[in-house]
Amino acid sequence: MRLTDCHNIADFRRLAKQRLPWPVFDYIDGAADDELTKARNTAAFDQVDLVPNVLAGVAEIDPSVTVMGRKSALPLILSPTALQRVFHWQGERAVARAAQKFGLWFGISSLATVSIEEIGAMGDNPKMFQLYVHKDKGLNRSMIERCQAAKFDAIALTVDTIVGGKRERCLRSGFSSPPRFTPSSALSYAIKPRWALDYLLREKFALPNLDTHVTAGTGEAISIQGYFTEMLDQSMDWNMVASIREQWGGTFCLKGVMSVADARRAVEIGADAIMISNHGGRQLDGSRAPFDQLTEIVDAVGGQIEVICDGGVRRGTHVLKALAAGATCASGGRLYLYALAAAGQPGVERAIGIFAEEIERDMKLMGVTRVDQLTRERLRWR
Ligand SMILES: Cc1cc2nc3c(=O)[nH]c(=O)nc-3n(C[C@H](O)[C@H](O)[C@H](O)COP(=O)(O)O)c2cc1C
Repeated sequence: MRLTDCHNIADFRRLAKQRLPWPVFDYIDGAADDELTKARNTAAFDQVDLVPNVLAGVAEIDPSVTVMGRKSALPLILSPTALQRVFHWQGERAVARAAQKFGLWFGISSLATVSIEEIGAMGDNPKMFQLYVHKDKGLNRSMIERCQAAKFDAIALTVDTIVGGKRERCLRSGFSSPPRFTPSSALSYAIKPRWALDYLLREKFALPNLDTHVTAGTGEAISIQGYFTEMLDQSMDWNMVASIREQWGGTFCLKGVMSVADARRAVEIGADAIMISNHGGRQLDGSRAPFDQLTEIVDAVGGQIEVICDGGVRRGTHVLKALAAGATCASGGRLYLYALAAAGQPGVERAIGIFAEEIERDMKLMGVTRVDQLTRERLRWR
């Protein structure tokens, strides 16, 4: 299978599976417990049907949106995800360049393998930094100050990882940051020599936004579940978040809000946006899908705060359904991560290109020329 054989996200997933050692593939693909929430995140979109209008004169259409004050060429954000140079040696640089090429918002994780400064200096498309609030307050301050200096457009503070989710595929494979070559996993790496050579011979693994303050995850191998549980601040509450927002002083997004009550509090503390998200099903299994929660949150806080529907998105029609239900835009991780793992920057570009085509085609088939014409009257719940 080659990159040109990939016509949808499931194809990229297959190619990624072929090319990655299984512990790495399972870190990307896996989720918590029984992975019910991960499956539901995508299945939720199938509960709703689109009602097209025809003969709408769709020769010229505009799929762009304004999100958090910045224009995005598509109503789709590339969500921040950790450890990208482990998936492909080009890592965050590939994702940043592809996002730049298409004029999209994208994010880098606190656990990014490329520095805030390097990403900040790349391109003028909008970028967010995803903040994990650590017990080490000096580290939190340092990341915020570095984002200010690098002129990031927004901080997205993740609130759904107060402890690590139980990711059983990672428990079985022993996946850690940095990846360890244990006797039981050595074979899985050895049979993917291309990945292994890239990993061993190219730029050394690093977490440059954290390693100024902590050795866990770099000098000292740790599971991601262990990292969250040990390193992140479980006393984080609304007061702490409000003070972080003040310290940052710029555009602020809360990532991982799922309830109406929390969405209202996000409005109260002056957040600009919320990402309705369950971390791609990687944290609380049995949690509701973002798309299922979207309408009640939009009905409660729509117009007061931007609402981003994060997770499960694999198709242009999923993006259109989220918009019609009232989201400002959609976002996702695996939708570009399989492609990154499969083929680096050309892979991510092909994945975004497929989304761009699907969104444009589906807008035309829906009979809309702008995304704000997608309203709830164009949806029917089964
Ligand atoms: C491999 C992987 C790593 C992730 N790392 C982070 C992270 O470091 N910080 C964060 O806030 N979310 C992280 N996420 C969650 C994504 O930002 C996003 O919420 C999730 O991928 C959405 O679900 P989807 O993959 O179905 O689109 C990660 C997701 C994946 C799949």
